[in-house]
Amino acid sequence: MSETLEIKPLTERIGAEVFGVDLTKPLSNSHVQQIHDALMAHCVIFFRDQAINHEQHETLGRHFGQLALHSGVSGIEGHPYIVKIHGDADSKHVAGERWHSDLSCDEEPPMGSILALHTVPEVGGDTLWTNMYSAYDALSPRMKVYLEGLTAEHNGEIIYRPITKEPNRVLPISNHPVVRVHPVTKRKCLFVNRQYVTKINELSRQESAAILDFLFDHCEEERYQCRFRWKPNSIAFWDNRCTMHQAVWDYFPKTRSGYRVTIAGDKPIAA
Ligand code: SIN
Repeated sequence: MSETLEIKPLTERIGAEVFGVDLTKPLSNSHVQQIHDALMAHCVIFFRDQAINHEQHETLGRHFGQLALHSGVSGIEGHPYIVKIHGDADSKHVAGERWHSDLSCDEEPPMGSILALHTVPEVGGDTLWTNMYSAYDALSPRMKVYLEGLTAEHNGEIIYRPITKEPNRVLPISNHPVVRVHPVTKRKCLFVNRQYVTKINELSRQESAAILDFLFDHCEEERYQCRFRWKPNSIAFWDNRCTMHQAVWDYFPKTRSGYRVTIAGDKPIAA
């Protein structure tokens, strides 16, 4: 393995493939730093042909922070920080079908997520990511001023209550700034998403619905996106603070399966 990783962007705005590293082996400090730099620069990065086991998956995540427990669903047997991501002929829904940032309903939403898929359909099952810095940057100066200072409710009840098998599980509902400052890059980005956000707290119901409709449509425009075609043992590592993603469930009744860890984050800072 070379000390300098090869980073190939997928698009001008978001996404890059990383070559020259074996994630089943211990990582050098230099490789950890280069992976982190690539994530900060491209918001989501991809690796191919990495047949990692659960321990290697956890170790990879821990290079970038503490692992976070999923607040909505339980982890797999023996590995509480790993959740299964799975769709097949018996599925009634799959994770992440609507645009979202993982667990934005948490008081301290995760910094990042690492998804490793071992089984993918022959066709379909892609994931899309969108760049929330670019979505913010593209707003008019007056709209930027208007949005700063507003907060939105991110509600985990509406997503996880219907599917949880644990009636006593406490599901998070949190308020976060609509425009946040990324703690590393210091860039401003939008932080609302169709899956968790129910309202903008400072607006009337009608005003909130209209502004959110505009923001969701705006952030989901194709010009801010990349689309990733999975192969068996591909890995995606994304920054939840400045991206949203959507898993396309167009492969029913075929099987798509793997595991995800999330890395703990901070309370979002208002712009
Ligand atoms: C998710 O983490 O939201 C699932 C993403 C995917 O299955 O591609």
